[in-house]
Amino acid sequence: MKRLTVPAIQRRKMGGKTADPLVMLTAYTARQAQLLDPHCDLLLVGDSLGQVIYGLPSTLPVTLEMMIAHGAAVVRGSYHSVVVVDMPFGSYEASPQTAFAAASRIMAETGAAAVKLEGGHAMAETIAFLAQRGIPVMAHVGLTPQAVNALGGYAARGRSQEEHAKIIADGQAVQAAGAFAVVIEGVIEPIAIALTNTLEIPTIGIGASAQCDGQVLVTEDMLGMFERVPRFVKKYGDVAGMIGDTAAQYAREVRERSFPGPEQTYQPKA
Ligand code: KIV
Ligand code: NA
Repeated sequence: MKRLTVPAIQRRKMGGKTADPLVMLTAYTARQAQLLDPHCDLLLVGDSLGQVIYGLPSTLPVTLEMMIAHGAAVVRGSYHSVVVVDMPFGSYEASPQTAFAAASRIMAETGAAAVKLEGGHAMAETIAFLAQRGIPVMAHVGLTPQAVNALGGYAARGRSQEEHAKIIADGQAVQAAGAFAVVIEGVIEPIAIALTNTLEIPTIGIGASAQCDGQVLVTEDMLGMFERVPRFVKKYGDVAGMIGDTAAQYAREVRERSFPGPEQTYQPKA
């Protein structure tokens, strides 16, 4: 199976509505990528790995080295999906030039097809700088977790007229700058629908709307790895329960000395 490309993803929205919604999930490890890849169009190496993998309190402490190590693992584990790697906080905001230095390392050292960065109008110049130099950029507007300190939390955005207008303008700005797609996170549904209906680039929703051109979720959230998840997450599994039950059975068998059994034990040749 040949790997999808960024232009192929963009073509899925030719002539208005995406007939075939884009499926995207996060992946952080090679084996996880391998299991998700056949079901997805895009895999996102999200900076959410800060909380999910490293137990950090937010995405802010995530480093370029972490993103590159996990990005390379996900590229090695996948054959079909377009792999997109998040640019971590601090690696792209200062100038288009610093963003290019970080993004080119991500592209060269992971083999990913694109980067993602947070911000709308304020990041338009940077998006254009990267896109014009051969680095496809996925934008991310609405609730942007790297701005949690400025936003004051992770509540849904766009409830005021002013903020509603700003998010719409952000979506238009990233398209004009040359982003190939845009993640719309944590906004009231009319904003996601309006952007999906007016933009020519695919919109990928998370906490947005089923009308978006695609959807993304954090895989561990969707698998049921965590007790507490945002309202926009649907738990499709109970992997936390499965891991707990499996570990409990192992612990029981070790304590009663029934593991290892004869099948797991070597004996001298008779
Ligand atoms: O880091 C991440 O996982 C993300 C998605 C949830 C959009 O940015
Ligand atoms: Na992210």
